[in-house]
Amino acid sequence: MSPLYPQTALAPGPDAACDLERLDDKLGRMQALWQQYGDCYRVPAVSRAADTYVINHPDWVRRVLVSNHRNYIKGVGIERVRVLLGNGLMASEGQRWRRQRRMLQPGFHKPRIAPFFDIWFRQAQELAGRWRLAAQRGEAVNVTAAASQTTLQAVLEALFSEDLARFEQDEGGNPFDLVSDESSRDLRFAVKFRALGRLVQAVAEQRRRERRFPPDLLSHCLQARDKSSGEPMPDKQLIDEILTLIVAGHETTAASLNWLWYLLASHPALYERVAAEARQAALSTAPDWKQLEALVWIPRAIKEALRLYPPGWLYTRRALGEDRFGDYRIPGGADVYICAYLLHRHPQFWDEPEAFRPERFAPEQEARRHGFAYIPFSAGPRHCIGESFAMAEMMIHLAVSAARLRPQPLAASGVELEAEVNLRPRQPLYLRFETVA
Ligand code: HEM
Repeated sequence: MSPLYPQTALAPGPDAACDLERLDDKLGRMQALWQQYGDCYRVPAVSRAADTYVINHPDWVRRVLVSNHRNYIKGVGIERVRVLLGNGLMASEGQRWRRQRRMLQPGFHKPRIAPFFDIWFRQAQELAGRWRLAAQRGEAVNVTAAASQTTLQAVLEALFSEDLARFEQDEGGNPFDLVSDESSRDLRFAVKFRALGRLVQAVAEQRRRERRFPPDLLSHCLQARDKSSGEPMPDKQLIDEILTLIVAGHETTAASLNWLWYLLASHPALYERVAAEARQAALSTAPDWKQLEALVWIPRAIKEALRLYPPGWLYTRRALGEDRFGDYRIPGGADVYICAYLLHRHPQFWDEPEAFRPERFAPEQEARRHGFAYIPFSAGPRHCIGESFAMAEMMIHLAVSAARLRPQPLAASGVELEAEVNLRPRQPLYLRFETVA
């Protein structure tokens, strides 16, 4: 068949074949190749006949994620996590994905998330209380462990509300703790994690039997109906969705809180701006959306942390048919990678891209920027369903803790990155806090 775009060229790139996703230092390699070959380069793959194309220009990002999204399915990155997530929203495609997205989406609308603010506020207060005690004793705090536990608890309570305590009673502890306690995501972990599906099934059956639907995400999934058939989700699908939400809702948010604290501790003057806003907000009860949306520096600091260290740092796609990026032709079957980490540091779209400057997210600066230069939650139909959920959870966490605590400045020695499924600090982050007021 003759190519759709006969006037186009093949993107430049190295001759040597290499499976980018298998490298220990994939991010470093992608950065070096980008500097050498530019915003679209091609890497022959060892294990597949098709090449991999890495793109780093917002126009082409928009093309893959939005204007020509029908030409793309999720790629190798998702194949690696399918054993963990099954056919949940993150890993499914086509009809199944569309049906599930339509059923789940209303559960993530802002008014549906607002009832969770009480839970997150209480959690943030408890955590700040523990950190204050550590500060008074002069002890350092393991921020990585705390962020992991608190974000897991946040998503579990939003999913199961009153039934979470029951799980703990019946199982002699929180059966989902392994998600936070174990950091590897190998096959052994996947088998243990998937076994938790039986608990989801049991609580779903119990709620249906008792006609008890507290306002949480599990109830939303149980009560959602397919628009065309009027049918509920089959149980197997329900389990895949709940397990997906646990993993997707926990790991990314935990990683973000690590980066946020790391950046704030190494920029004391900016921290003071955030802390002043937190003290002014003086939350004594859970905020509502209006209060959260009135905050300025807290969301800007979070967005800037997500720019410098986007937890979902690499989006992998597979082209179904031929496509074109500028002068370059992409054959059908090719893998296309978008590296959010590098896009967020592209010097054509960001001044001093390495600098932590939350003021970049002032509305007038945002309006001047290319809309696809910043995609921490992706974009288009497959964008993160939990964006508002995560932003609210993180804002509450920061508004509560920054009003009460100040991190001792970190020496700007840098942090080693671990760029696997998520972008995380390779070593746990320890901080010392001082109490404020
Ligand atoms: C800071 C926190 C978060 C970040 C940075 C983040 C980032 C992302 C990104 C980049 C994607 C798209 C991946 C791709 O296209 O390959 C995604 C998808 C998704 N996220 Fe998030 N996420 C966060 C929090 C959450 C939360 C809290 C939940 C749920 C409670 C969630 C649930 C999902 C789901 C289900 C998908 C798949 C959506 C679909 O394909 O239709 N995420 N997220």
